[in-house]
Amino acid sequence: MKMFDVYPRYDIYPVRGQGSWVWDKEGQKYLDFYGGHAVISIGHGHPHYVDRIQHQLQQLGFYSNSIQIPIQEELSHKLGEMSGYIDHELFLCNSGAEAIENALKVASFHTKRSKVIVFENAFHGRTSLAVTATDTAKLIAPINQNDRFIRVKLNDLEAVAKCMDTSVAAVLIEGIQGVGGIKLPDNTFLEELKLLCKQNGSLLIVDEIQSGYGRTGKFFAHQYAQFEPDLITIAKGMGNGFPIGGILIHPDIKPWSGMLGTTFGGNHLACAAGLAVLEVIDSEGLIDHVNSISEVLWNALRSLENLIQIRGRGLMIGFDLKEDSKLFRASLLKDHYVFVGSAMQSNTIRLLPPLGVSKEELVVFLQAFKKVWYA
Ligand SMILES: Cc1ncc(COP(=O)(O)O)c(C=O)c1O
Repeated sequence: MKMFDVYPRYDIYPVRGQGSWVWDKEGQKYLDFYGGHAVISIGHGHPHYVDRIQHQLQQLGFYSNSIQIPIQEELSHKLGEMSGYIDHELFLCNSGAEAIENALKVASFHTKRSKVIVFENAFHGRTSLAVTATDTAKLIAPINQNDRFIRVKLNDLEAVAKCMDTSVAAVLIEGIQGVGGIKLPDNTFLEELKLLCKQNGSLLIVDEIQSGYGRTGKFFAHQYAQFEPDLITIAKGMGNGFPIGGILIHPDIKPWSGMLGTTFGGNHLACAAGLAVLEVIDSEGLIDHVNSISEVLWNALRSLENLIQIRGRGLMIGFDLKEDSKLFRASLLKDHYVFVGSAMQSNTIRLLPPLGVSKEELVVFLQAFKKVWYA
């Protein structure tokens, strides 16, 4: 059987990873400044992560949500503490799109409404509702099409206000747009958006799937502003590669038995991975590290000539080239063994290194980058 061919792939075969590095089958070492779509938070093959998953697997890998799973409470407690959202409640699932799907469902159940305001350039995943919330027409199959999503310009509060009526269940916004090219919502925009939602009886869902888990120098990117979302979606860095996602849900939103559900969500092994990630972020002070190391990277990038519009926060960085970035990225990878990411716009480059990236690794990255930049 052949694989269903939906992914454009580099001709590279990584077989091993450690920290910010991966090795291919010939033993060639690559510096990973992309983390496989922003997934690698605590670094490849972190020993505590490997130990915790291994230990859990030796005990019990899986049983469904029909029994007590104390490690879920351990995870939600630690997440509440580290994120500052002690009173929010946690629902666990398996991926980012699934977190979005469930967050929209919760908003709709809670408000008994069905419209959602979303933003230009947004990316929320590829399942039915998530893909309709995403601003890429070619990903939306006829079966996904519906008229329940209203799309407005990011940071345009007036445009949002014009669409607000009693049919709007939620506004869905990324902490920082990732696939959309590292575009930031303004702090005041977010704060006023929350007020607008509150006045209208709609919920505010912040998608932190890419921007969360310390990547921006705070646990969540939206915490640079002063407001609390009703729902926060998480995935990617949450599991450092182990498939896990979730929603933080405001305590005013009440659950009922059967409201949401999934077979695999919150399984023992996924929770062990999720806990290991939080423990490492905590014990290694990775959020403080992001703040200091990212300053070095930002300063170095800013000193490069002709780099257009460097944007983002912490270790979630985007900038534009004058031309398509494809050849640039290919040269970084093939000639200098460095992974970086792309975005919706063909000339954009995204940098998403592991949170613990070292100064020495920044030097390697910058040397390679400059060679391609000034070639
Ligand atoms: C902000 C955001 N939301 C949702 C998703 C979808 O996550 P997943 O691919 O795990 O379904 C992504 C994936 O890139 C994302 O960046």
